[in-house]
Amino acid sequence: MQKIVLAENSPLLRSDFIFGVATAAFQIEGAAESREPCIWDTFCAEPGRIRDGSDGLVACDHLNRWRDDIELISSLGVDAYRFSVAWGRVIRADGSVNQAGLQFYLDLLAELEARQIKAFVTLYHWDLPQYLQDQGGWLNRDTAYRFAEYADIVSQAFGDKVYSYATLNEPFCSAYLGYEAGIHAPGEQNRQHGRQAAHHLLLAHGLALQVLRRNCPQALNGIVLNFSPCFAATEAKADQQAAWLADQYHNQWYLQPLLEGSYPDLSAYLAPAEWPQIAEGDLQIIAQPLDFLGINYYTRTVFTAGKDGWFHDVKPTQPPLTDMGWEIYPQGLTEILLQLHQRYPLPPVYITENGAAMVDQLVDGEVQDADRLAYYQSHLVATEQAIAAGVNVRGYFAWSLLDNFEWAEGYAKRFGIVYVDYASQQRIVKASGRALQQLWQSRK
Ligand code: NOJ
Repeated sequence: MQKIVLAENSPLLRSDFIFGVATAAFQIEGAAESREPCIWDTFCAEPGRIRDGSDGLVACDHLNRWRDDIELISSLGVDAYRFSVAWGRVIRADGSVNQAGLQFYLDLLAELEARQIKAFVTLYHWDLPQYLQDQGGWLNRDTAYRFAEYADIVSQAFGDKVYSYATLNEPFCSAYLGYEAGIHAPGEQNRQHGRQAAHHLLLAHGLALQVLRRNCPQALNGIVLNFSPCFAATEAKADQQAAWLADQYHNQWYLQPLLEGSYPDLSAYLAPAEWPQIAEGDLQIIAQPLDFLGINYYTRTVFTAGKDGWFHDVKPTQPPLTDMGWEIYPQGLTEILLQLHQRYPLPPVYITENGAAMVDQLVDGEVQDADRLAYYQSHLVATEQAIAAGVNVRGYFAWSLLDNFEWAEGYAKRFGIVYVDYASQQRIVKASGRALQQLWQSRK
C-alpha cells in the first residue's frame, strides 16, 4: 500500500494539530424536497449552466445516509469534520424555523460528539435560499441582516456542540463567480454587482460574527477564504502589473477589509460606478477580530495584461494538471501562506480545503488514485514548510470526504478521498483515503 510519509518530528503530527475532512450541504445532502429551493437549484434548472446537466436534488443522498457517513468519517481517524448548514433547510420562506431541518443538524452534531469528532460548521457555502434571491440576493443589503438572524437561530440551537464556526465559505466565489463572471449561481455578469455582492457578503460576515461571539464565545469563530497566488505570464511590466491587480482584486479584496478595515485602493482601475456602495460604519463591522482564518488552496494562477488594462488568466497547458485543468503547484501553498503572514498579523490559520479532482477508475472494487495521493503528500509537505517558516497553521482539511456535486462541473469531477458510485450510492475508500487514514490513525 502506498503511504503518505511525513518527517518524524513533523509539526503536523503533534497532538494538537487538527486533521479533518470537509463537505458542503448542497454538494452532498440531496433531499431537496425537505428544504427551501436555493439559487443553485434554480441555476441547475437553466439549460447549459451545469456541464453534465445535473443538479443537487439527490447528490450523495447524505441526508438519508448520514449515520453511515459519520461512521465512515470516524473510521478515517480524523479529529474534525467540516460541513455546512443549508440556510433553506433551517429557515423557511416565511421566516419560521423548520424544526425537522434543524433537528437533522442537531442529530449530526450529537453523533459527532459521541465519536469525539470536532464539528467545524460553515454557515454559508453558496446555497442562498431562492426566496432571498427573489429580493435581490446579495445585491440587497437586507440579505446581510437576514444572514445574521439565521446565524443567531443556528448558533443558539447548536449551543456548545460546535468547535468552530465559519460564517462564509469563499465569498470570492459567491460574489465574483456568481455576480461578475456568471459561472456560478445566480449567473450574473456585472462588475459593479460583483463588488456589491462581495461587500454585502463581508457585511453579513461581520454582523454574524458579532452574533456568534455573543452566543458561542467558546467556539473558534472566523471565516474561510480561497487564495491562489497570482503570477505574471512574463517578465513584461504590463504582465507584472496584471498579476498585482489580480491579487488585489481576487485575494486582498476579501482579506484586507477583514484585517485592516479597508478595501485595496483600485481607484485607478475601477470606474466610480463600478465601486460598491458602502454605508458608514460597514468597514468597522466587517473588521471584527477573527479567532481563525480558514484558507482554501488548490492551485496558483498566471495572468497576462489585456489591451483593456485589465488582467486575464492564462489557462495552464503543461502537466501536471488535475482533472479540473488546474496546475499542480504545491509550493504555491507555502508561498501564499508566507505572503499573507508577511503582509498581515494573521490569526491562527486552518487549511480548510485542499485536494484534487482526478480521473478515477473503479477497477475490481478499488480506486488506485496514486495521483491524488501524491497531491496530498506534496501539499502536506508544503504546509509543513510554511509552519517551519513561522506561519501559525493549526489544522488541515482534505477536500473532500466524498465525490460530490462539483458546482458548474456537475458530477463529472471527483474530489473525494472516498469514491461514490452514484447509481448505488455505495462509498468506496480510494487509495488516497486509505493513505490519509493510515497517517491519521498513526497519530493516536
Ligand atoms: C472550493 C469550494 O469551497 C468547494 O465547494 C469546491 O467543491 C472546491 N473548491 C473544489 O472546486
